[in-house]
Amino acid sequence: MLVDQNEKVRTDLWHISPHVLKLETSIIREILKVSSQPGVISFAGGLPAPELFPIDDMAKISQLVLKKHGARSLQYSFSRGINELRELIAQRASERGTPSTIDNILITSGGQQAIELMARVFVSPGDYIMTESPTYVGALQAFNYYQPKYAAIEMDDEGIIIDQVEEKIKKFKPRFIYTVSNFQNPTGITMSMKRRERLVELATRYHIPIVDDNPYGDIRFSGKDVPTLKSIGGDIVIAVRTFSKIITPGLRIGWINGPAEIMHHFEKVKQGTDLHSTTFCQYLIHEYISAGLLEPHIEKIKVDYREKRDTMLKAMKENFPEGVKWTEPDGGLFLWVELPKHMSTRDLLPKAIEKKVAYVYGQPFFPDGSGENTMRLNYSNATRENIVKGIKTLGELFRENM
Ligand SMILES: Cc1ncc(COP(=O)(O)O)c(C=O)c1O
Repeated sequence: MLVDQNEKVRTDLWHISPHVLKLETSIIREILKVSSQPGVISFAGGLPAPELFPIDDMAKISQLVLKKHGARSLQYSFSRGINELRELIAQRASERGTPSTIDNILITSGGQQAIELMARVFVSPGDYIMTESPTYVGALQAFNYYQPKYAAIEMDDEGIIIDQVEEKIKKFKPRFIYTVSNFQNPTGITMSMKRRERLVELATRYHIPIVDDNPYGDIRFSGKDVPTLKSIGGDIVIAVRTFSKIITPGLRIGWINGPAEIMHHFEKVKQGTDLHSTTFCQYLIHEYISAGLLEPHIEKIKVDYREKRDTMLKAMKENFPEGVKWTEPDGGLFLWVELPKHMSTRDLLPKAIEKKVAYVYGQPFFPDGSGENTMRLNYSNATRENIVKGIKTLGELFRENM
């Protein structure tokens, strides 16, 4: 069902570099291909709800950008990003507890590029990266090109298990600590304040940068806000942010907020990748925010996702058999399910797809390939009706296979 693309390559003809051959195609993209078949209810992707995209506003703002900025909006521009957007981002961060200037900000082509630039700047083959376990699979994919090893730290419902961090810092001397501290992809878990303070303290003591990948931080719809790692840790924290989940992912605009003294290294490696992120989309986002459209839009997203999360949790309580555990996120797009230890979510997936429901099995999110009995469910993309239907089907599937 899922095809290993490497197997199709005639290596006698095409001399693909050995470490690229070792890389795996994103399993999520492969599952998405299967799950996007008509009639399949998909909890597999990480897609924002398309019906919430601000299409009419974007149509107006596009016109405005072309009228106001003309050829400049279609021209090559700075590798660090257009000044107007960097200033606005710095101002927004400053208002939210992270004093920042334009010199701290570099615009990237989505958060994904920012993650990749971290490995480019900090990692040589064989170096360690510290991550949560499980962690965002797209980060593992970006990092793996640079042939790192992983110092993976288990999680509980307060996030990274902090007692394991110091020992592993001493043992492995990681180049950086990668965390998704808010409404983590894949688990939906948010790192507690206590753990944040301890993590910053350890990172500062050993001078290991924390890369805080935070695409979901603005989408909190319940519970109490927790300060960002960057607002607690200052320069030891490099924040990776994106407009993908709060405006639209197709614009491909994210940013890095980091210490001014190292930003030129990100700039250099970005230049080699794509010269700069799309000028037009940067102006589009700048004008969209300047028109005051962003904050009300985020509020709209929160209302919708809270309802969908509630729908999914209620359906899970009603339909999942005993022995199945799950997280209850206060924001973001995902929740995490653990089946009894003897069950394999990977083996169950073809049966789920036969029953017209898709999810992502948990294993690819673990740097050590464990997590056989886990799965990630996305609640932002399906309709409420399909959430109920899909969860009911999953409940039946679990019961049949327990
Ligand atoms: C934790 C995390 N980081 C980064 C990304 C990539 O975001 P972008 O679309 O901005 O590249 C995602 C997307 O799902 C994500 O979940």
